[in-house]
Amino acid sequence: MANPTKIAFLDLVTPHKELEAELLAVVKKAFSNAGFIGGPMVEEFEKEFAAFCGAKYCVGVNSGTDALRFAFMALGVKPGEIIVTVPHTFIATTEAISQAGAQIAFVDIDEQTYTMDPAKLAAYFETRCEWNSKSGELIERSSKRRVAGIVPVHLYGQTADMDPILELAAKYSLFVVEDACQAHGAEYFSKKENAWRRAGSMGKAAAFSFYPGKNLGACGEAGAITTNDEALAARMRMIRDHGQAKKYYHDIEGYNGRLDSIQAGWLSVKLRHLAKWNESRRTLAHRYHELFAELKDSVVIPVEASWTKGVYHLYVVRVQDREALQARLAEAGIATGIHYPIPLHQQKAYEQLGYKVGDFPVTERVASEIVSLPMFPQLLAVQQDEVATAVKEFVGSKVAATR
Ligand SMILES: Cc1ncc(COP(=O)(O)O)c(C=O)c1O
Repeated sequence: MANPTKIAFLDLVTPHKELEAELLAVVKKAFSNAGFIGGPMVEEFEKEFAAFCGAKYCVGVNSGTDALRFAFMALGVKPGEIIVTVPHTFIATTEAISQAGAQIAFVDIDEQTYTMDPAKLAAYFETRCEWNSKSGELIERSSKRRVAGIVPVHLYGQTADMDPILELAAKYSLFVVEDACQAHGAEYFSKKENAWRRAGSMGKAAAFSFYPGKNLGACGEAGAITTNDEALAARMRMIRDHGQAKKYYHDIEGYNGRLDSIQAGWLSVKLRHLAKWNESRRTLAHRYHELFAELKDSVVIPVEASWTKGVYHLYVVRVQDREALQARLAEAGIATGIHYPIPLHQQKAYEQLGYKVGDFPVTERVASEIVSLPMFPQLLAVQQDEVATAVKEFVGSKVAATR
């Protein structure tokens, strides 16, 4: 039987208590003019978040899922065209692809970073697709479908290796939409540009989720799209607002996918703390690395590639027998998670795609071994010590049992 939780997986109460006065001031401001949809608070947040990401434009929407979906639609994806992503992500990535009318194709992840493996992407293009030089299109041979774009997912707060992905996109005339829903503030060193770039500034567009548990979280549902393309930003603004740029003049059919003003105001307040919170997550992650160093034969800690500065949305380790580790930690009152236990190509929802077990061996192995440990900016060193002690006891008991 699990004991009552002593160490939460994520503490959302403390930061809201700390910021209560500022957050309530936003509500009062909204009440004073009853401007609940759109308006200055949304526009201010969009400007601030674009600047934070190093992008020119930001379009606030009502979730990360819609951010992805609206980006694909604004990019003009046609029914049945292929968008390539990874099977090791939250289902929202692929839901958005399907809901935009496109077809999902997967390539496997890199075993160290858990993000899209550029070599596997290149292999998919080279062996499964062919370039039609007349039309300037990349076509998947078996389905005869056109490949339209790539969605690298910056998972757990670490960016994918963007240089080679962007190079392949340029070679085959494909768009890149970053799924940055877990990577607010994560950085990537582009060798090509000899510069650090923020998540959200590298693709044709990028999607962010402000689901409450994210590094930058709203107090409800919210999301945003960033881009450097003015026309694309304008199109995404129309799509989120019933296809209108001017009230009741509908150029296209769109959605009700706007960002609420109160959420935007709250996000502006929290954005001022994000750099500090991300730094705290990085410090905690490095401390976990040190605490687990002596367990290196049994516990695989996150690898931060030299080209990335991660923001540790999650701290994910790999162990054999992870259910037993989770049970041991639960006994000690320590909450854990699994992100994600079933790879997308093995989900019932995607049976019709025809993938089978063994198609993405790295994803399958990783998904069976990962455990996410408590990680949030307010986590205390003593709590981390308790987590580490419980993990060490678990590893010790396994070693003793095999003697
Ligand atoms: C990788 C990834 N993509 C997309 C989403 C969807 O975001 P939302 O829940 O805001 O729709 C999430 C959020 O959980 C996510 O983690």
